[in-house]
Amino acid sequence: MPVRHFLSLLDFSSDELKSLINHAIEVKKRLGQGISHTPLTGKVLAMIFEKSSTRTRVSFETGMSQLGGHAMFLSPKDIQLGRGEPIEDSARVISSMVDGIMIRTFGHERVLTLAKHSSSPVINGLTDHLHPCQLLADMQTWFELRGEIEGATVSWIGDGNNMCHSYINAAIRFNFNLHIGCPENYAADAELVKNAGKRVKIFDNAADAARGADLIVTDVWASMGQEQEQEDRLRSFSEFQISSRIMALAHKDALFMHCLPAHRGEEVSASVLDGKQSVVWQEAENRLHAQKALLETLLK
Ligand code: CP
Ligand code: NVA
Repeated sequence: MPVRHFLSLLDFSSDELKSLINHAIEVKKRLGQGISHTPLTGKVLAMIFEKSSTRTRVSFETGMSQLGGHAMFLSPKDIQLGRGEPIEDSARVISSMVDGIMIRTFGHERVLTLAKHSSSPVINGLTDHLHPCQLLADMQTWFELRGEIEGATVSWIGDGNNMCHSYINAAIRFNFNLHIGCPENYAADAELVKNAGKRVKIFDNAADAARGADLIVTDVWASMGQEQEQEDRLRSFSEFQISSRIMALAHKDALFMHCLPAHRGEEVSASVLDGKQSVVWQEAENRLHAQKALLETLLK
């Protein structure tokens, strides 16, 4: 049987994603009741981080422990991959010894190559192109607080980046309307937008994108690897901050999400990030629960 990977939300069907999230909600409840659940006893997850991380690292490592397995943190500084050993060779060797590989890296093609040569499931823990694990947590948070998302209006305001791209894929799989508000030069990938068809509408300003939204989402203006562009980006995005004024254009009970880390006073005002409509802490915690459900699906 071919190995199953999770490189994009589109690798799973709508039904698979929904049942994964429902399982995550169930497993979260059981954890809260102190019931142990260890279906991955003896299993090992290798975690390759070519970029920094707090949430992804802590959630995968904790998740593997809670499921009865073990997670191994591999920094490119310490392994031969960082000294130029080809990713194809690294994939063959590492996957022959572990039950799964999680990788966070730059170019998306690195994850595709790793998966192609891996005999164990590969999980995309963020590339420049996609961040599918975050969407599992975001959708879980929505399901917990609001139920079904089909037909809802989600506004993505800010950079057309990896998170925006994963929201486009989520709009396809969960069948919601996505309003994207981006500065012209920072638009989302045109192919992905086309693939989503009528579900996605593009706006060139934050206010029009926010109007009538049930959920407003943003992310940093300069992602990891774009540090040199920080100043240009601050200028280009200055009209795209999620402020109380922007939130007021959405529905009264609209939620606010951000994958974190956030920059208060840049992409989001402190009043919104720390305000009543913000669910960012529940969203962050759900990384743990949603990825445990994903690990169970792929590694069991
Ligand atoms: N949201 C997210 O992926 O956070 P980290 O970069 O801390 O893993
Ligand atoms: N877009 C951000 C997300 C961080 C979790 C980045 O790639 O740096």
